[in-house]
Parts: sequence; C-alpha cells; structure tokens
Amino acid sequence: MTQVMDKAKKNLITNGYLDIEVDPTLDLVAEIQKLKKEKNAIILAHYYQESEIQDVADYIGDSLGLSQKAESTDADMIVFAGVHFMAETAKMLNPNKKVVLPDLKAGCSLADSCPAPIFAKFKEKYPDHVVVSYINCTAELKTLTDICCTSSNAEVVIDSIPKDKGIIFAPDKNLGAYLIKKTGRDMVLWDGACMVHEIFSNEKITKLKVRYPDAKFIAHPECEEHILAMADFIGSTSQMLKFTQQDEACTFIVGTEAGIIHQMEIASPDKTFIPAPPENNCACNECPFMRLNTLEKLYLSMKYELPEILLENWVIEKGRKCIDTMLEISAKAGFKA
Ligand code: 13P
Ligand code: SF4
Repeated sequence: MTQVMDKAKKNLITNGYLDIEVDPTLDLVAEIQKLKKEKNAIILAHYYQESEIQDVADYIGDSLGLSQKAESTDADMIVFAGVHFMAETAKMLNPNKKVVLPDLKAGCSLADSCPAPIFAKFKEKYPDHVVVSYINCTAELKTLTDICCTSSNAEVVIDSIPKDKGIIFAPDKNLGAYLIKKTGRDMVLWDGACMVHEIFSNEKITKLKVRYPDAKFIAHPECEEHILAMADFIGSTSQMLKFTQQDEACTFIVGTEAGIIHQMEIASPDKTFIPAPPENNCACNECPFMRLNTLEKLYLSMKYELPEILLENWVIEKGRKCIDTMLEISAKAGFKA
C-alpha cells in the first residue's frame, strides 16, 4: 500500500487527484460519514455537483452561501465539492484549516479567461476605477480586486459603490452586461464568459416554450443576453431554486448547469424540471470541471487529506480583503447561508 500511495502522491499534480483503486464493494457513503466524524470534517457542495455528492454534503449552496458557510464553520477540515476558485476562497477565509478538493483539475473556464498578469495591465488603464470581480476568478485575481461579488449579491455590491466612481467588472461579460442594465451603471467589462452558460440554444428553448406553454423559463445571469431576454426569471442558483418552490408554475425550463435540478426535484417533487438544451447534441449544460469530482475521489480526498489547497501568505492576506468586504455588504443586506 505504501508503494501505491507513494506513486499516487507523486502523480498527484499530473493527475489532479489521488489515483488509488477503491474497493468496489466499499459502502462509500458510510465510509464518508465515518471520516466526517473522525476528522471533524465538513463537506460543502455546490448545486452543480453530481447528485450522489450532494446527498452526502453537510451544506449545498450557491457561491455566496458556500463562502458564508466556509467562513463560519468550526470544522477542522473543509472538503470542497466544487471547483478550484471556491476551494481557494474557503482557504483564504480559513488560512489555518485544511481545505481539500477531490480533483485539483476542477477549474473554471470563466476564471481561466482572466489571467491576473494580463488583468493587471488592463487595470492600469483605469487607475481611478473600483474593481469588482465575480467570485469565479483565481486567488491572484482577487489580490487585484476591491470587492468580490457572486450572482446573488452582485446588484447590492454594485449599488454600494458611490455613483461618481467608475467600475471595472471582471471576468464575466454576460453578468456584467446584465448588471449594467439592472443598476444603470456604466462599467468597463472584461471579456470573459462561462462555457456552460454560453451554450444554450435560443431555438431549442423557443421550441420547448411552444411545447410546454405553461412552463416558465428560468435563467442564470451568466447566460448570454439573447437567452436572458427570453427568461421569466433571472437569478443565482439559490434564487432559481427558491423561485421554483414559490412560483405557482408546475413546469420549469432550467437555464443553468443541470446539476441544480436534483435539489429542485427534492424541494418540489410534484413539479417538472427540463434542462435548457445546448446548441449541440452534447451534455454541454453540465460543467465539465464540476463533474470531475466523483464520490470515489471525494472519499479518497477525505481519507488521505489530499489534494490540499495551498496558497502563498501574501495571496491570502491581499486576496482576502475583497471577500471580507463582500461578506460585510452581504450580511448588511440580509443574505444568509
Ligand atoms: P452561483 O453559485 O452564484 O449561482 O454561480 C453559479 C456558478 O457558475 C458557479 O460556478
Ligand atoms: Fe465555471 Fe461555468 Fe463551470 Fe461555473 S459552470 S464552474 S462558471 S465553467
């Protein structure tokens, strides 16, 4: 076993996860529950995770809820069932705790679209602007950011900035364009986007609306403008979930990553949820990064406490400020995990 472990550790960076065979007869759910107790660990899962991962999580939420939960937890180890920038955020909020991510390659196309050194040059052109970054960005980008935001609190964050101040919004141009419309603020936008939310087909959604005339189309603000223009409701994942619970409609076409449908079905078992179809006949409405995490990898990451998120101290100190500011604004506005 030591040899297998040594090899797996050596290959961790290349593989992104511990490549160790898991006994197929093992009751993974029971083992994960045991490890949680033994290690005083908490599993935080995003709505876009596989259903079986959501089912073992201690908290399932959107990016804001997950950050709030990470900030308040007294667990010794945070197991992040989500993507890299989310686990980094949890680490910045808990520099002295162990944060593990089942697969280090669980990145984000949106975060990748805004490399910090290039953004630093871009920012130099607007020296007096306040930088607001969507939380879907790297820890390095957070060091260049004044206030972070998520899709839940973005409007409140923008409204907190004095009207005479210019704003740079990064990295999501779709969320940025939506916020310009909602807040009336003129913002300089970074040209980034999420590969999952840019794939929805206008034509296929229109056909679904004709086929299900009573259905409501709900969409995440990371979607393109022409898709948002068709929506009956626009909101973050948690706001979309809440809307499906409270609205009288019985059928919803869901314009975001399809993983959220699991919680929608649990919350409203009598309602029907149809994933908004992508342009191609692919499963492109599933985030390929989120889906790198599996129950096996989650189990291994808890057992061996690897792969661990490690950040340089200066990144934690400098990058954390914009997250703290966001959490303060959110608490004042009444956002709770
Ligand atoms: P929220 O969790 O804020 O709804 O954002 C969705 C997302 O794309 C996370 O990667
Ligand atoms: Fe990034 Fe899009 Fe995946 Fe969210 S759904 S993690 S924004 S690539």
